[in-house]
Amino acid sequence: PRIGIIVVAAGSGTRLGAGAPKGFVGIDGHTILRHALERVFDAPAAQVVVVAPPGREGDALSEALEAAGDRRDLVTVVPGGATRQASVQAGLSALWADVEIVLVHDAARALTPPEVFARVIEAIESGRAAAIPVLPVVDTIKRVDGAEIVGGVDRSELSAAQTPQGFQREVLDAAYRDATADFTDDAALVADAGHPVAAVPGHPLAFKITTADDLDRARSVVADRPI
Ligand code: C5P
Repeated sequence: PRIGIIVVAAGSGTRLGAGAPKGFVGIDGHTILRHALERVFDAPAAQVVVVAPPGREGDALSEALEAAGDRRDLVTVVPGGATRQASVQAGLSALWADVEIVLVHDAARALTPPEVFARVIEAIESGRAAAIPVLPVVDTIKRVDGAEIVGGVDRSELSAAQTPQGFQREVLDAAYRDATADFTDDAALVADAGHPVAAVPGHPLAFKITTADDLDRARSVVADRPI
């Protein structure tokens, strides 16, 4: 089945405080978006849709063509929306008719290793409706109300969700078509539509670059192993 990968990069990056949309912030000589796309193009994709901040489509296209090498025909760039969900929707609308499996990936998880893509693709190719990479939660988690601890949570049943998240295209299309609420990831939307979601092992390097500390971490990782 043909695989389409939607890379959402239309976030403002306000929490990073770098003064540019997050995807265009440099890690080393290359941007967050470029690093993400280098790894995306290691996967067996038939189409890669980059969802760019509105007005920055040209810059996103340049980054994508650099990462694509001789696979430049695979690249589509579309402008994103006000929320992540709207940006994914924009990406879905740009998928070619013959794409049957969709992966949705946060550009902000720029250092996600190819093996994570491979695990998600394998689960979907084996017939699962949806599959996402997860990592066990290592911290002890508390419920907090203002300045009071109001309860604990059994962390053994908790995992942190990462991307890429994979889906049968028809399942994701239908979930987006029928969505009535806002969700922070695509698996929640698909689960809300009644589909089982499989878990595959995530990776520490699939962390999301959100704060300046995360960017420092990304910089030290790529200093050890550049593109
Ligand atoms: O905001 P958050 O860190 O959850 O964003 C996760 C990913 O979604 C990022 O790669 C970001 O660029 C993308 N995003 C988007 N459009 C938005 C908001 C976030 O493409 N409106």
